[in-house]
Amino acid sequence: MKLLVTGGAGFIGSAVVRLAVERGHEVVNVDALTYAANLQNVAGAAGSNLYSFEECDIRNREALDRVFALHKPDAVMHLAAESHVDRSIDGPGAFIETNITGTYNMLEAARAYWVEAGKPDHFRFHHISTDEVFGSLGETGKFTEDTPYDPRSPYSASKAGSDHLVRAWHETYGLPVVLTNCSNNYGPYHFPEKLVPVVILKALSGQPIPVYGDGGNVRDWLYVEDHADALLLVLGKGQVGRSYNIGGENEATNIDLVRTICAHMDDLHPEGAPHADLISFVTDRPGHDRRYAIDPTRIREELGWRPSVTVEEGLRRTVEWYLANRDWWQPLLARDGVGKRLGAG
Ligand SMILES: NC(=O)c1ccc[n+]([C@@H]2O[C@H](COP(=O)([O-])OP(=O)(O)OC[C@H]3O[C@@H](n4cnc5c(N)ncnc54)[C@H](O)[C@@H]3O)[C@@H](O)[C@H]2O)c1
Repeated sequence: MKLLVTGGAGFIGSAVVRLAVERGHEVVNVDALTYAANLQNVAGAAGSNLYSFEECDIRNREALDRVFALHKPDAVMHLAAESHVDRSIDGPGAFIETNITGTYNMLEAARAYWVEAGKPDHFRFHHISTDEVFGSLGETGKFTEDTPYDPRSPYSASKAGSDHLVRAWHETYGLPVVLTNCSNNYGPYHFPEKLVPVVILKALSGQPIPVYGDGGNVRDWLYVEDHADALLLVLGKGQVGRSYNIGGENEATNIDLVRTICAHMDDLHPEGAPHADLISFVTDRPGHDRRYAIDPTRIREELGWRPSVTVEEGLRRTVEWYLANRDWWQPLLARDGVGKRLGAG
C-alpha cells in the first residue's frame, strides 16, 4: 500500500513512517518542517527505496494537489498539526491555520484526487486526533467514541474543528474516512518541550523539574510505537466513517509519572540522585484539563488491539533512549521557545 503521511517528521508521524516502511509499505512523508520537525526521526527509513519526502505546507492547497498527482497514494494518514497546548495559548493563530484550514485543504485535495481516480473503494483518509477534544473528566468515567465534544484549549478546539470537517466530508461527499482519538503519547523522538522529555532532560542537567499546579492532573499514557501500530490497524481494518479511541490503559497523575521517571533516572543515571528532589511546583496552565481517560472497548473488541507496553516498561525504555541519544536532543534545545515557560496566561 502507498501511504501519504502528513507530519511524518514529527514525533508520532515519524513512528508511523518507521513502522510502515518496516512492514513493507511505500511512504510519502509530507511535512513543512516546522520547529517541531526533525528529519533525523526518519533517518532509518530514509535509506529505503520505499520512502520519499515532500517538503510541503498543508496550508498550501496547490502544493498538495501536486503531491497527490505525483505520488497517487492509496491512503492518507493525516498527522500534521500544531500540537503543543502551551504554544496554542500564546499563539492560537497557527493552530487555526494548520489544524483547521490545513485539514480542510487536505480533505479537498484528497477528495479531488479520489474523484479524479473514479472514487476507488480502497482509498482511505485517516485523520489522527486527540482525546483532548472531549474536554475534562471528573474523578470517574472515561471517554467513549460517543462522548460529546467539549474542547477547552485553542489546541483542542482546533483539533475538534478538524474532526468535524473530516466527518462532514464523509457524510456530504462520501469520502472514505476513518478517525482516531488518542491519549497522551510518550517515547523516543519526543520533542523536548513535552512533559516526559522535559523531566528526563531537567533531571539529567540537575535543574528544577517543573510540575504544573498540584501535579494531580491525570492522563492516560501510551507508548508511541503502540500508537503507530494501532493507527496502521485502524487504517487497514477500521470501518469507514467510524472513529476509534486509542488509549494506553495507563492512567497516572502527572506527579506520579514524574516520580516514576525520576526513579528510572536514579537507577540508570545515579549521578544527582534522588532526582525527585528537583521537583518544583509551578503556576498551573490556564484551563488545564483535570483528567482524561480512554475507554478502548471499541478498538479492542472490533479490531483486537491492546497496547503491548506497560507505562513502567515504556518509561524505562524512553529514559534509556534519551540517555543514549544526546546527539538527537541537544541541538533541539536551541530551537525557539524550548526550555522557556510558555502558555502561562
Ligand atoms: N503527542 C500526543 O500525545 C498526541 C496524542 C493524540 C493525538 N496527537 C495528534 O497526533 C498528531 C501528531 O502529533 P505529534 O505529537 O507527533 O506532533 P509534532 O508536533 O511532534 O509533529 C507535528 C509535525 O507536523 C508538521 N507540521 C506542522 N504544521 C504543518 C503544516 N502546516 N504543514 C505540514 N506539516 C506541518 C511539523 O513539521 C511536525 O513534523 C497531531 O495531529 C496531534 O494532534 C498527538
